[in-house]
Amino acid sequence: MPTSIKSVLQETRVFQPANAFVEQANISGMAAYQALCSEAAQNYEEYWARLAREHIVWHKPFNTVLDESRAPFYEWFADGELNVSYNCLDKHLATQPEKTALIFEADDSQVIKISYRELHARVCQFANALKSRNIQKGDRVVIYMPMSIEVVIAMQACARIGAIHSVVFGGFSSRSLNERIENAQACAVITADAQFRGGKMMPLKPAVDEALSMGGCDAVHSVIVYKRAGNDVQWNAKHDLWWHDLIDGLPCTCEPEWVGAEHPLFILYTSGSTGKPKGVQHSSGGYLLGTMVSMQWVFDYKPTDIFWCTADVGWVTGHSYVAYGPLAMGATQVIFEGVPTWPDAGRFWKMIQDHQVTTFYTAPTAIRSLIKLGGELPKQYNLSSLRLLGSVGEPINPDAWMWYYTVVGQSRCPIVDTWWQTETGCHMIAPLPGAMATKPGSCTLPLPGIMAAIVNEAGDEVHDQHGGFLVIKRSFPSQIRTIWGNDERYRKGYFPEEMKGAYLAGDSAHRDEDGYFWILGRIDDVLKVSGHRLGTMEIESALASNSLVAEAAVVGKPHEIKGEAIVVFVVLKGSRPKDAATAKQISEILREWVSKELGPIAKPDEIRFGDNLPKTRSGKIMRRLLRALAKGEEITQDISTLENPAILEQLKHVIQ
Ligand code: WTA
Repeated sequence: MPTSIKSVLQETRVFQPANAFVEQANISGMAAYQALCSEAAQNYEEYWARLAREHIVWHKPFNTVLDESRAPFYEWFADGELNVSYNCLDKHLATQPEKTALIFEADDSQVIKISYRELHARVCQFANALKSRNIQKGDRVVIYMPMSIEVVIAMQACARIGAIHSVVFGGFSSRSLNERIENAQACAVITADAQFRGGKMMPLKPAVDEALSMGGCDAVHSVIVYKRAGNDVQWNAKHDLWWHDLIDGLPCTCEPEWVGAEHPLFILYTSGSTGKPKGVQHSSGGYLLGTMVSMQWVFDYKPTDIFWCTADVGWVTGHSYVAYGPLAMGATQVIFEGVPTWPDAGRFWKMIQDHQVTTFYTAPTAIRSLIKLGGELPKQYNLSSLRLLGSVGEPINPDAWMWYYTVVGQSRCPIVDTWWQTETGCHMIAPLPGAMATKPGSCTLPLPGIMAAIVNEAGDEVHDQHGGFLVIKRSFPSQIRTIWGNDERYRKGYFPEEMKGAYLAGDSAHRDEDGYFWILGRIDDVLKVSGHRLGTMEIESALASNSLVAEAAVVGKPHEIKGEAIVVFVVLKGSRPKDAATAKQISEILREWVSKELGPIAKPDEIRFGDNLPKTRSGKIMRRLLRALAKGEEITQDISTLENPAILEQLKHVIQ
């Protein structure tokens, strides 16, 4: 923590938006930003009601705006009715049916474009396919698919019939998939035979087969398989169905299911500080509004834009800024199946050039790895179509910010560093690029109407620059509604009593003299590895389930490219490996084990062995010491409560 505070405090560069950008911006100048903020401050509910009326096509208008009577189970626009898919598709049919909705670029560079008219027809047809399997409003459908036009269709089709989707990232293991199917009690799984990434074919269907065989998935009556690769797949005639067979002959129109604004649109599992991932439940109306206003304000969306968010739909970013926000705005967007480094590290830049991308949104990890693999490569491409750049998922270090700004954006494009979470549904703190100056490493100021603040342990606001816990003081439309099936975990985790009713984000932050927010990192046991959110407890319990392991503790340490690396301290059931070769061998076994249990994204970077872990007399693992050890720091902290100081020496040793 101290080093990150120091590094951000040293950053003094300020970048004013160019006049040309300000002039054309949707929110132009600080006065316009402040006017919105005061509108929200003066009449909070009326402010959001106005935006909800302007942005959303309501089937039945709402009368109540915010219902706080069951706080923290807030309801927004609850007596209004809408359909999210109608707002993303049908709404555009009268005005721009032939506009390209999706430009899909496959791993092998093949491009497929699809108009709003075609997308609408295919979503309707697939919605009819879901109905033919008797999937109904409120049913849960797990989606485990590669980036494709079809995954967007699958999500939109669920929304169309009021089914609640839960997308599971294709990089998660069969066990993770099983846990999510079981927790959501899903009745259907939509998947593909395989996916292509970086020139390689990676099967997906076997993971579904395995997940279903693990138990707890009895509710699944249909597994719909999109044929992407044509590889051989095992077939279970009881429930497996090919996508193309299922839609064959079905009509391309489907009346949307009108749902109340609070009807859950989706559940998205994310890591928290326990061993079990939590199903973040989002609403229909409030969520849609959040994605739309942030497209408008933060991405300064214009109908002429070619928008490209590189996130996979398995993460919230791919929900809000691929599957919903851009479509609700009627945008043309790029979706990409492959990886940024294949066939070489110029892939993103080539695609920006080829598709004339105007707005590019990616993660700091991608930026850092592209700097490392080919920092000069962007110069070989014509990137003059770009007008705005965005960053998401983890703090962006000022060096990466400056490279992104000067080399990719050619010092012309504002950078929007967007702070938000799976739970917030849309951007919370981010620059409105035609209004405020940016500073490398700061996500700047809250969106108008987002009452972000920094508080101390007692929940009192701190106004000096020492920092504290990041909270949002009032409910906002796109916020999480609950954790699926676990209201208590929702209440305790996000609205603990000492926070006096504010939403506790789980990050620490501080504000500078201009009121700008600087995010310092998580305050809980959650890591951000390559922008992916991973709970240390999840990794610990995966390790504990291996027969070699007696005890394990997981911490993060700073990593040049990934942001954070996973470091594991292990006590084996047998004796500690005495020589490097044995240690290395066991390390490999355990790394593979975690990869198999949770997915390759959770594979530990480093494993260290000890006869024990540093513990207090009451048996609590002293994680701050492990963090210091992982970073290779001398232990200068107070270790008077440590029962077994000698253990620190042992755990210093890294096995390569
Ligand atoms: C971190 C991703 C600094 C933060 C949208 C947050 C960030 C967690 C930023 C949520 C940013 C996200 N600057 N940190 N611009 N954006 N984070 O749920 O720790 O995958 O709490 O949502 O990512 O991660 P999640």
